[in-house]
Amino acid sequence: MKYFFLAYAIVIVLFVGLMPIRGAKRAETPLRLFPDMDDQDKVMGQSADQFFADGVGSREPVAGTHPVGFLPDGKTELGGIPEYEFGGGTGYYYTGGIDDYYSNGMPEELALTADNVNAFLNRGKEMYEVNCTPCHGSSGDGLGITTSFGVPGVANLTLENYGQATYPDGRMFDVISNGKGNMGGYKHNLSIRDRWAVTAYVRALQVARKAPLSDSSIKAAFEAHQAANPAQAQ
Ligand code: HEC
Repeated sequence: MKYFFLAYAIVIVLFVGLMPIRGAKRAETPLRLFPDMDDQDKVMGQSADQFFADGVGSREPVAGTHPVGFLPDGKTELGGIPEYEFGGGTGYYYTGGIDDYYSNGMPEELALTADNVNAFLNRGKEMYEVNCTPCHGSSGDGLGITTSFGVPGVANLTLENYGQATYPDGRMFDVISNGKGNMGGYKHNLSIRDRWAVTAYVRALQVARKAPLSDSSIKAAFEAHQAANPAQAQ
């Protein structure tokens, strides 16, 4: 037992001896048992780097590309509307909420008119099909391909409780932006305008689902779809 206390004392003395005194400044690199991510193999902003021929660490965008969030000419405004915006603002357009409450309707910042609303919805369709269809399915019924690989609890967006009366547009915008439960947020992938466009498209899916097949425009679209996809015709 007496050796135990001796060993214990030695360990403590070693431990304390090796640790720098808190607040003390030393020229040498400190011994760190838990280095966290203090030293990283990366180029710090504005520092030199010999990897590149010109020795400059910070790089210009590669010719023919443009950074996310900017139009090719470096501007962020398209037709007076900030096209590539990903968040940060306050108010309905940015958050889907007005004074702590979700609200309904497309925000006026989108500047929707009879002329551009079709393009807006088509953009929503495109973005929905790229980002949401894998889980929510192309009709919004929550039976996307991922559900057959075990993604659980994907919401069926065609249910009544996701309709505008009980589930305002702003709330849908918020879920698209920030995610919920097993669903991740899309605020880093989709611009604000695109998130509203997806919201509008989900509304279009909900309406189309309930429209009678006798509606000639829907019937024609359905028949065209069946003709184009004969394997799925039943
Ligand atoms: C990786 C699969 C996945 C993708 C992709 C996905 N979702 Fe979801 N979504 C889910 C799951 C799972 C839930 C259920 C979340 C919960 O209630 O915990 C959900 C729930 C929702 C809800 C309802 C949330 C609520 O309040 O109950 C909405 C609205 C929604 N998703 C819209 C979208 C839209 C629009 C997109 C495309 C931008 C999208 N989702 C992409 C998996 C996904």
